[in-house]
Amino acid sequence: MAAPSIPADELLTLAVATARAAGAALAKRSDRTVNSESDHDIKLQADVDSETLIRERLARTKLPVIGEEIGGDAGLLDHDEPYWAVDPLDGTYNYLRGIPGACVSIGLWRGRRPVLGVVFDFWRDELYAGGTGLGLTMNGRALKPRWAPDIPRAVLCTGFPSTTDRGGEAVRGFVARVEKFKKIRMIGTAALALAYVAGGRVDAYFEESIKLWDIAAGLALVESAGGFVRVEPVVGKPLAFNVWAAGRADLAG
Ligand code: IPD
Ligand code: CA
Repeated sequence: MAAPSIPADELLTLAVATARAAGAALAKRSDRTVNSESDHDIKLQADVDSETLIRERLARTKLPVIGEEIGGDAGLLDHDEPYWAVDPLDGTYNYLRGIPGACVSIGLWRGRRPVLGVVFDFWRDELYAGGTGLGLTMNGRALKPRWAPDIPRAVLCTGFPSTTDRGGEAVRGFVARVEKFKKIRMIGTAALALAYVAGGRVDAYFEESIKLWDIAAGLALVESAGGFVRVEPVVGKPLAFNVWAAGRADLAG
């Protein structure tokens, strides 16, 4: 059955309620069962349970979902139709070890474009929501970010995604950015890093080979705040992108 056409503000309201429900469940959960582990990645049962809850709540929109744990159809990016892109727990390793910086991320995209997004840091009770033509809010209050005037005074959030190259060229690029920017932060959650760009806590974000679900909501937030995004698909890696986001184009390194 074709998906009903639901106004964007209603979809955002549903995404906010869904992120709050999933975040509340993660915040009160004590179980940290590890389902699998690889060199630079870890998967918890909490990731799966959170995605299941989110999918149940979004089901009434009848829109397709691409999620980090249960997957989805990468072909959705090639059609001008809306779909959800969900990271049910971003910052999984932080969540496991109790390091601040874990969130629920729910984005709505149309083809290759962000439409709206919600990022909920359930430990700090900070919920960022925004979308094209809908502005940006944190906990329901409008945010008007101010970004650094130039790169030497700018803070860059970055990271090394689990499957990305950690060899010489990647490290040389990292060192070059360490030299250019005033400060570098690696907070272990791409979704929250992008929410921080949107809200003006930091000025720029860069990661290579980052997956759609990590960035889908955050990029919508940055755009809703009037920021700049550059998203380049990685050849041969479905749903992976090299991404810059910043308050303005001149703050992307
Ligand atoms: C990870 C975080 C991290 C990024 C990794 C992601 P996870 O997501 O977003 O910042 O560098 O690529 O895998 O594993 O915590 O859901
Ligand atoms: Ca993630």
